[in-house]
Amino acid sequence: MKEPGKKYFFINVETLGDQLIFSFQLFVHNPLNNGYYPFLRANCPFTSAKRKLLSEIVEKGGMLAIADVQRESFLQQLSLNEDQVEDLRPPPVHELEKRRSQLKQQENQEASKENFKALLNDAMTSDDFMPLIDVVRNEVVAFSPRISSTTTLASLLCETILTEDNFLNRVVALSYLLAKGCGITDESSLGDLVCATFYSHLGYTQLPHVCMSKPFLEFNEALTKEWKKHPGLSMHILRKAQIDLSSRCKTIIEQHHERYDGQGFPQMKKGQYIEPLALVLGAASHLLEFSSGRVNGSKSSIQTFVLNFRNKNFLPGMEFEFGPLISESLSYLVDTMKQEEDTKSVA
Ligand SMILES: [Fe+2]
Repeated sequence: MKEPGKKYFFINVETLGDQLIFSFQLFVHNPLNNGYYPFLRANCPFTSAKRKLLSEIVEKGGMLAIADVQRESFLQQLSLNEDQVEDLRPPPVHELEKRRSQLKQQENQEASKENFKALLNDAMTSDDFMPLIDVVRNEVVAFSPRISSTTTLASLLCETILTEDNFLNRVVALSYLLAKGCGITDESSLGDLVCATFYSHLGYTQLPHVCMSKPFLEFNEALTKEWKKHPGLSMHILRKAQIDLSSRCKTIIEQHHERYDGQGFPQMKKGQYIEPLALVLGAASHLLEFSSGRVNGSKSSIQTFVLNFRNKNFLPGMEFEFGPLISESLSYLVDTMKQEEDTKSVA
């Protein structure tokens, strides 16, 4: 099986048959120094003395190689196809990849039946995110295992953790959905986002306990200062644990509280200087934190948040600087018809 990008492929001496002249050059490979050396130029006779010498080289562990740029000439002259040369055969499909492929077929069938927008609105109406979480889990578990270690980690995390309806899993599902709504649909980006979402609040474990029990708006200056350390603390824990994450995944964690107008933290980055997926995670986290009462102490629906967001009716503690793309995506995904009618009937 030839490795992608390799400049030579190996053949057996017998493959050459009894032909005397070749339209391609022969090389020998020395496994001791991983070097490739010219053995016989194209159109030079492959004499019996050369054959004997080549056999001796192979007996001592050397290997006969052909430059990949001459692959076509080699196959043509010897009337072979790639399947007949061991080093040119496509790689066997790994068991993990077979399983992912089956899951992907199932997931595609589900996707044609189910619509993310309908699932999200059902989840918000019934306050049951499990069907949405299940769909996200099925998608991420089916990601290819050949993209990156972070993508594979995202699949494993979803397989083991994304199994119940809790706050963290809701953030994972909503940020995933929001990213797709913004047109970010490749598995590599979504894998980075999923891992970042799972790990972004690891730093909470190092904060005073009161940060977990008090609404954000009731934090005093000192507590706010402590709380703002959590993205950096999350990164510190990940570094200590030596968890290998992609640089974009780390950036999402570091920047998930940066805001489009430059009023976020820790670096007060602005607009296009913020990783888009960090804004996605920031929006999904904030939406769920606000609606669950973590910001101002009173619960409200996500639809109400989005309606206020769209009408620029900004309540205390409400954040809205996530950039135009996310604003559009939220307005599209979240059906606020009922809240609008309620608002009209009250007026
Ligand atoms: Fe956070």
